[in-house]
Amino acid sequence: MTDAMEIGFIGAGQMAEAVIRGLLKANFCPSDRILASDIREERLDELRVQYGITVTPKNPEVVRRCETLILAVKPQDIPVLLSELRPFVQTEHLVISIAAGVPVAYIEGKLTHGVRVIRVMPNTPCLLQMGCSALAAGRYATKDDMMKAKTIFHAVGEVVEVKERLMDAVTGLSGNGPAYVFLFVEALIDAGVRMGLSRLDAKKLVLGTLRGASKMLEVTGSHPAQLREQVTSPGGTAMAALAEMEKGAFRYLLFRAVEAGTLRSRQLGQSMT
Ligand SMILES: NC(=O)c1ccc[n+]([C@@H]2O[C@H](COP(=O)([O-])OP(=O)(O)OC[C@H]3O[C@@H](n4cnc5c(N)ncnc54)[C@H](OP(=O)(O)O)[C@@H]3O)[C@@H](O)[C@H]2O)c1
Repeated sequence: MTDAMEIGFIGAGQMAEAVIRGLLKANFCPSDRILASDIREERLDELRVQYGITVTPKNPEVVRRCETLILAVKPQDIPVLLSELRPFVQTEHLVISIAAGVPVAYIEGKLTHGVRVIRVMPNTPCLLQMGCSALAAGRYATKDDMMKAKTIFHAVGEVVEVKERLMDAVTGLSGNGPAYVFLFVEALIDAGVRMGLSRLDAKKLVLGTLRGASKMLEVTGSHPAQLREQVTSPGGTAMAALAEMEKGAFRYLLFRAVEAGTLRSRQLGQSMT
């Protein structure tokens, strides 16, 4: 292949853009060695102008010129895309899919026998290079394939490797995680307003506390329980507040929320097997 590219994106929406931006920041390769296709040509123009990447409206061209392919279309567009790609994908390709809920076996079954597939579940903070992605290897993916995929997604945040059967749990935890945090923050702000603070001050205090507390967890490496004990003096204010959280089964509520998210993800995935 004389016109070979380093990496190809099929579907050039929000998540593809986040990964492209991360790869360029991490100097993964020169921008013009990234190739992206999409059905929306104006979207391709935007990315070409903004990042200097190479673009094409033809998905098979990406397959022809790239050994590493990132499938970044919506899950409901995957079946049609795989039928289009089937005649072109060879076992030399590494296919990385970020489509939520689409099982590796489904992709393997729709493409050439023996194709190497890795499934990735990113989350929305990837858009700010502060995401979390879980990666699961398909039947034919090698250790080197996994290393390559980890390098790619490390450019947009943390990565963990899991068995594919745990992907629904990942969805229930970090996939949905930002929604849980947004609800928690919203409720805390309201709680501050209820106690008489202005909404603006309450928001500033809650966001600052969230930022500071997560930094403390990161910097100290301490167990969350240890840090919590340090701010909970005997008979003090934090203990009084925590007792109310225990009464409302806060911890168990989170267990149940993550379980519900996991089960719903499993249910949705079953429609694609
Ligand atoms: N965004 C997130 O935070 C997030 C988090 C976790 C996982 N994901 C996964 O990431 C994938 C992409 O999500 P996204 O938010 O980036 O979606 P998006 O912004 O809608 O991007 C998908 C792009 O692919 C295009 N497309 C559709 N069918 C195509 C085809 N056959 N060939 C080429 N391009 C095609 C779409 O065009 P049209 O708009 O015209 O259809 C759109 O421009 C999804 O599977 C999602 O499950 C996303």
